[in-house]
Amino acid sequence: MKALILSGGKGTRLRPLTHTMPKQLVPVANEPILGYVLRHIQDAGIKEVGVVVSPETQNDVRRFLGKGSRWRVRITYIPQEEPLGLAHAVKIARPFLGDSSFVMYLGDNLLAQGIKEFVEDFHSASLDALIFLKEVNNPQAFGVAVLNKKGQVTKLVEKPKVPPSNLALVGVYFFSPGIHEAIKRIKPSARGELEITDAIQELMRSGGTIKGEILEDWWLDTGKKDDFLAANTVVLDDYIKRDIQGKVDSKSKVSGRVRLEKTGKIINSTVRGPVVIGKKCEIVNSFIGPYTTIGHGTHIINSAIEHSVILDECRIENIARLEDSLIGREARVVHPQNHSSALRLLIGDNNIVEV
Ligand code: DAU
Repeated sequence: MKALILSGGKGTRLRPLTHTMPKQLVPVANEPILGYVLRHIQDAGIKEVGVVVSPETQNDVRRFLGKGSRWRVRITYIPQEEPLGLAHAVKIARPFLGDSSFVMYLGDNLLAQGIKEFVEDFHSASLDALIFLKEVNNPQAFGVAVLNKKGQVTKLVEKPKVPPSNLALVGVYFFSPGIHEAIKRIKPSARGELEITDAIQELMRSGGTIKGEILEDWWLDTGKKDDFLAANTVVLDDYIKRDIQGKVDSKSKVSGRVRLEKTGKIINSTVRGPVVIGKKCEIVNSFIGPYTTIGHGTHIINSAIEHSVILDECRIENIARLEDSLIGREARVVHPQNHSSALRLLIGDNNIVEV
């Protein structure tokens, strides 16, 4: 079995962050989303990985993934000139995929449970497609599936205005090579994309065996700001253990599950986990509250921060309360003395905010 990761496309929904970085590389708890994807693929024992990249994103993605040695896989890059749809990405990946079965993993999706157990299920049941579903409140934003009373998939529609169910298609799909014939028979949708949802529907129509598995655990499509903060919250809850490698001075208090990386420093401050603080950070005279991630090289001075993601190389100074915020790389949020009211911000990379 091979894996195909989709890491092309245009990250319009997470702007302004994705003006300067592909959405698949936005870090959650200081690890780019693609890092979690690769870890799941490695855990499933898959060695051959194709990565679809766009002209805009490919340099950053290649820099992070390299040849795949960190995850003991071999990566083949597959450039896609334009984001013409998920099924189009499969089409251009055919020379890499050959006649193998494969798992397609959307590079901006985060799953709690990994995919290892499903590789077995897919092979032993001789399926043509295994798809994953999750109940959501806004099904019109996703591909949507309808199941019959026996739990079999009977219909799939992409982003329907009037959703026939609340079961969204999760961005992980297992396919037999039969999917390629189905893709040849579909036409672009109204939004001009070759939709994988239509291809699976076509596979079903032509007699393919499709199984829909409802996920129990969490799943996140990290494409938007609130989903992104939610992703940070669940990852901190599920993955972070207490691990203090940096320096904490005697005037500071660090409680709960806090990961402080090697060259990070906490000086005269209180940190209450779950929190991740990156390398070369300095937290001085500050309070860092639960569900916060501080990126590498960031300085927090005389400030209080809670439930926020601050990316790398930022400076936050004299801000009495910053919450539910997402601050891009190398941004500065500063006040000359002490700003007293609470701030909620979404700030892109390299911005300066003087409050
Ligand atoms: O996240 C789950 C949803 O993903 C499903 O419920 C939908 O059925 C499915 O169509 C997809 O919808 P999105 O609108 O979220 O897809 P998006 O355009 O964000 O693309 C998903 C990933 O695939 C993203 O990492 C970018 C990449 N991509 C996308 C397109 C359209 C490519 O590599 N090439 C492309 O042509």
